[in-house]
Amino acid sequence: MVSLGFLVFLSAVLIHLCISSNAQPTYRYHICSTAGNYTTGSQYRANFNSLFSSLSSNATLHNVFYNATAGQNSDQVYAIYLCRGDASPDVCRDCVSASSQEILLRCPNQKEAIIWFDECMFRYSNRSIFATMEDTPFGFLKNPNNYSDPVQFKQIREDLLERLVTKAISDSSTGMFATRETNFSGNLKIYGMVQCTPDISLSDCNICLRGSVAEIPNCCEGKKGARVLKPSCNIRYESFPFIEQKATAPASPTISDREDMTSLDASIQRRCFSWKVALTMMTRREMGYDRHSGDGKGNDVPYHPI
Ligand SMILES: *[C@@H]1O[C@H](CO)[C@@H](O)[C@H](O)[C@H]1NC(C)=O
Ligand SMILES: *[C@@H]1O[C@H](CO)[C@@H](O)[C@H](O)[C@H]1NC(C)=O
Ligand SMILES: *[C@@H]1O[C@H](CO)[C@@H](O)[C@H](O)[C@H]1NC(C)=O
Ligand SMILES: *[C@@H]1O[C@H](CO)[C@@H](O)[C@H](O)[C@H]1NC(C)=O
Ligand SMILES: *[C@@H]1O[C@H](CO)[C@@H](O)[C@H](O)[C@H]1NC(C)=O
Ligand SMILES: *[C@@H]1O[C@H](CO)[C@@H](O)[C@H](O)[C@H]1NC(C)=O
Repeated sequence: MVSLGFLVFLSAVLIHLCISSNAQPTYRYHICSTAGNYTTGSQYRANFNSLFSSLSSNATLHNVFYNATAGQNSDQVYAIYLCRGDASPDVCRDCVSASSQEILLRCPNQKEAIIWFDECMFRYSNRSIFATMEDTPFGFLKNPNNYSDPVQFKQIREDLLERLVTKAISDSSTGMFATRETNFSGNLKIYGMVQCTPDISLSDCNICLRGSVAEIPNCCEGKKGARVLKPSCNIRYESFPFIEQKATAPASPTISDREDMTSLDASIQRRCFSWKVALTMMTRREMGYDRHSGDGKGNDVPYHPI
């Protein structure tokens, strides 16, 4: 028989692990391009390595968005990162560092790839990807839980997303990032966020965001939470607060919100492990790693399983 004391001890350890690793960036989705491959010993890979290490170390300096390139001619590598508009410099740096390592594990020899974490997006290519609006390839994430009143929910969600898009494109000084919460019913709220890479124009941001909003009915109608992830922009709404409040502490989610959060984070236990190997293996299995490479053109990118 396992003693009560041992269970208490184990819980304490698990809680400690979960809390202390909370700051760990969380992988969500990636797409490896099929445009072409490089070899491990190539100049392309060497350029890639030097670019990634300087991007990671510069992430705090440049914060939210950065583009950089390394090498020349056919070996030139271009890379972009975009941290969430509410990410602190430390969170941004950790995410850029984690995503640039993770992308190598998931797309080990592709000349072009893109990866999304909760806290940032990272992409690289052998062609110039700067200051160009790209809305393919893309991915979805959705909360499996449904709203009990989908008709009312749809109206409120549409209104929320419309206001968010308008806010993001109305003022370039906000970095094309907007957040908002709206009352749903009772004390339930819907929380939303939209963001473009700030290297594109406001009108391209508008096109990218509206295209993403238009995907929601196709992928995620009635769902309690969803994200559309595109190279130049992303949108997200949830039934729990997920935006970092810079001044005040975030409200604690209610019990039912937590349930949503747990199912959205299909792999929430991942946060409670610090072993890189376990993490990578579990993530690959849970996220259907092998089945989730897109074709780099937006065709046949499956819905995210969670
Ligand atoms: C990128 O690599 C692919 C595959 O090797 C190649 O076909 C393409 O021309 C390259 N693009 C540039 C801009 O070098
Ligand atoms: C690129 O490498 C992947 C495996 O990493 C392979 O599946 C794919 O066929 C390769 N593509 C080309 C064009 O060689
Ligand atoms: C990183 O920052 C250093 C110092 O500010 C600069 O010299 C270097 O070029 C930067 N690297 C990149 C990739 O921008
Ligand atoms: C980043 O992109 C801008 C264009 O949006 C360009 O002017 C700048 O030179 C790029 N940075 C690097 C390091 O290439
Ligand atoms: C949500 O609704 C869809 C279709 O209406 C249904 O297939 C699915 O099982 C529901 N999911 C949950 C978690 O109730
Ligand atoms: C949401 O509801 C609360 C109290 O029910 C109210 O104080 C607040 O103004 C409402 N917010 C909006 C945006 O309507």
